[in-house]
Amino acid sequence: MRKWNFSAGPAAIPEEVLKEAQSEMLEWQSSGMSVMEMSHRSPEYIELARKAKQDFADLLKIPNDYQVLFLQGGATLQFSMIPMNFGSKGVADYVLSGSWSKKAIDEASKIVDVNVVCTSESSNFNNVPKESSWKRSENAAYLHYVANETIQGNALHVPPSTNTPLISDMSSVILSEPIDVSKFSMIYAGAQKNIGPAGLTICIIKNEFLKTASIELPGMLQYSKHAAADSMFNTPPTFAWYLSGKVFAWLKGKGGLDSMGEINRQKAKKLYDFIDHSEFYINSINQENRSIMNVTFLLKNSELDVKFLHEAKNAGLLNLKGHRSVGGMRASIYNAIPIEAVDALINFMGDFQSRHG
Ligand SMILES: Cc1ncc(COP(=O)(O)O)c(C=O)c1O
Repeated sequence: MRKWNFSAGPAAIPEEVLKEAQSEMLEWQSSGMSVMEMSHRSPEYIELARKAKQDFADLLKIPNDYQVLFLQGGATLQFSMIPMNFGSKGVADYVLSGSWSKKAIDEASKIVDVNVVCTSESSNFNNVPKESSWKRSENAAYLHYVANETIQGNALHVPPSTNTPLISDMSSVILSEPIDVSKFSMIYAGAQKNIGPAGLTICIIKNEFLKTASIELPGMLQYSKHAAADSMFNTPPTFAWYLSGKVFAWLKGKGGLDSMGEINRQKAKKLYDFIDHSEFYINSINQENRSIMNVTFLLKNSELDVKFLHEAKNAGLLNLKGHRSVGGMRASIYNAIPIEAVDALINFMGDFQSRHG
């Protein structure tokens, strides 16, 4: 029996999507084969891939002067590909607002001079420092930030204003609400949260910026090669692409990102309000930087953590354990998690509190 899955990623996928994929598992649209067994160069697959990409672009209202690339290697490979392709000026600016920013910085530091414009590390990344305090370099190749720090549960909700090419890791926030893509030179995201199954990474790159990418790297590491080959420079992750296409169609059917954004804000608000009004649970993230996707919280008495997780599991609420590096709890409430799941979590938390508070 399926339960409410609050995993941070790989994360819940809409049940309707899974059922549809199940019905097509053995044979996709009278083709005589599963989509997994089909050549990525076949006309049928090329049409499926085109449609998925178009639906993704429609959802995010991506302007025409951007490329959308469906790649592999996870968001982690982007931590290296970005400085390799765009770091020729020698210096790049990075915001350090959590564990993923840190990983991006560690990788970039092997390739470019990284200027860390700000950090909230000394306060356990419970905020994103105000833009006015950032120490930007004069001639940075780009400014990089992680829009939503999945582990700490913080977010920068308004993109920085800058003339420097802006790059954002949106792995855990993409498709959760509308964004103004035109503000960015590049956006990237691993799929396994709001897009679909793991194995796919989507990059959105402005043509003007893409023109500045290195053409001296090995082919697999060049954005221009992937763009020129329509993301089929080599065999793409065909099944992940197919399933993600189904998620995009599902999102369109739900009214797109305006309506998802509204639902997501409502879900997060309900959970934060409950936590804020309780004497038993704490969320330590600054109000204005609270993530709407990953709600982290601690039990005031951490000795009850194991019991909490055990009882939650028995109540059908899975994967609430916080990341091993920060402890506590984390409820990831991506698009596939409906408000009923959040209500069930709040009911459980209230009940647990009344028995142990
Ligand atoms: C914000 C963010 N960036 C990067 C990553 C790394 O993604 P991947 O495992 O796809 O390389 C994650 C993974 O959870 C993430 O949440």
